[in-house]
Amino acid sequence: VPGPTALDMARAFRSVRADPLTFLGEVAATYGDLVAFPVPGPPALLLNDPADVRRVLQTSARSWGKQTVQYAALARVTGPGLLASSEPSWIEHRRLAAPAFHHQRLDAVAGQVRAAADAAIAARLGPSFHGGLVDVASLVHRIGLDAVGRALFSADLSDHAQRLLDATSDAAGLVVRLGRSVLPTASWAPTPTNVRLRSTRRRLDGISADLVDQRRRRGVASDADAYGDDLLGLLLASGLSDAEIRDELVTMVIAGHETVAAGLAWTLMLLAEDQAAQDRVRAEVAAHPGPVSLLGHRETMPWTRAVVDESLRLFPPAWALSRRALEADVIGGREVPAGTLVIVSPWLVHRRAESWPDPLAFRPERFVGAGGAPPAYLPFGRGPRLCIGREFALGEMVVVLSRLLASYRLEVPTGWRRPAAQAQVAVHPAGGMPLIVRPLAGG
Ligand code: HEM
Repeated sequence: VPGPTALDMARAFRSVRADPLTFLGEVAATYGDLVAFPVPGPPALLLNDPADVRRVLQTSARSWGKQTVQYAALARVTGPGLLASSEPSWIEHRRLAAPAFHHQRLDAVAGQVRAAADAAIAARLGPSFHGGLVDVASLVHRIGLDAVGRALFSADLSDHAQRLLDATSDAAGLVVRLGRSVLPTASWAPTPTNVRLRSTRRRLDGISADLVDQRRRRGVASDADAYGDDLLGLLLASGLSDAEIRDELVTMVIAGHETVAAGLAWTLMLLAEDQAAQDRVRAEVAAHPGPVSLLGHRETMPWTRAVVDESLRLFPPAWALSRRALEADVIGGREVPAGTLVIVSPWLVHRRAESWPDPLAFRPERFVGAGGAPPAYLPFGRGPRLCIGREFALGEMVVVLSRLLASYRLEVPTGWRRPAAQAQVAVHPAGGMPLIVRPLAGG
């Protein structure tokens, strides 16, 4: 299998760490759809061919697992929560959490997501705002966190908001650093990263314990036989230990707001660059009967939904997924042994010219009327480990767009240059997303 030599890797060392998206793009452009990295031990492969990707992600979780550096680094913050878990208990936890994402439940929390969007918009773009440059990335970050709090924990996170945003962004930075470190260090070693990680974990533990205590007190006070049917209620009623509940809470906060916020920031940028596409969203919102819900957009708001789909193609927040072969398998016609590491990058697959004509162009039409997910499209992963928050996230993105664009027009400032795409836990715009926001007459 072709791939860079150890010397190439040593030369590229800095760029691998500083800008992995560009590095991966160059590697794929040079070596093609199946690339081997020079590592001792079992092979480490980058897969871009949609058929290979499907094989790895869609087979049973018993053949390919998450025993990788990427997920070990995440687990240092989230513990074996749903996203990082490579344990057999994963399937039980997934079943426990699933009802919090069922359609019925999503229908019920649409109002909470609208409220989260409206509150942040009013706070930042209220009556005293007459238009100007706004970092929309930080605006949607707050909405993302607030929406998770209200919809999944029925909790107002505003008391905790700043602490949570700080702790999760520190945690994300540390996870990235651990994931890219060359030499694994023992978690007990007093390295600066480990010390900061422990303190970040303590902060997240504190917030999670507060949320659990509040809910338990409420449950006892109301003598309720159930804790409620949101995610926190399900977890509390499930008999999981406090440590397991904490792991799931922290997982949902991290997985549930960074990704949506990053996705929304890029979507707003693409719409600010393409006024006609933005006007079409606004027209759809105006024509929508009643408030926009979290479900059914493909039918009720096909253009807006296509904008979101296309934005997640160009800027997939989850830019790299990894798996370890738990048994020998065949990839690209070659046998690979147990222990093989595979990296799949939605960022690369979504920009593959063989799969997407004019891949860098923003063309929501690609998704209008498209039935089912195209093979080379995986912003939410695929197979048994598909994102549990997919419907929630897509609904939230459509709702936030509808609330914002109904009353404001977004434009790019003069001399516009796109912010660089920075691969953290999610792909963020480096330095935020400063766009001109103008209130619409009568909005
Ligand atoms: C899994 C992306 C929103 C919670 C995943 C995976 C991807 C992904 C690619 C699969 C990872 C893998 O296979 O290695 C995204 C994107 C989002 C988003 C792009 C937003 C645009 C959310 C939200 C939540 C969430 C809103 C929860 C509130 C999770 C969890 C998993 C997961 C718990 C692990 C599921 C499992 O393995 O059973 N997400 N996600 N995500 N996501 Fe999301």
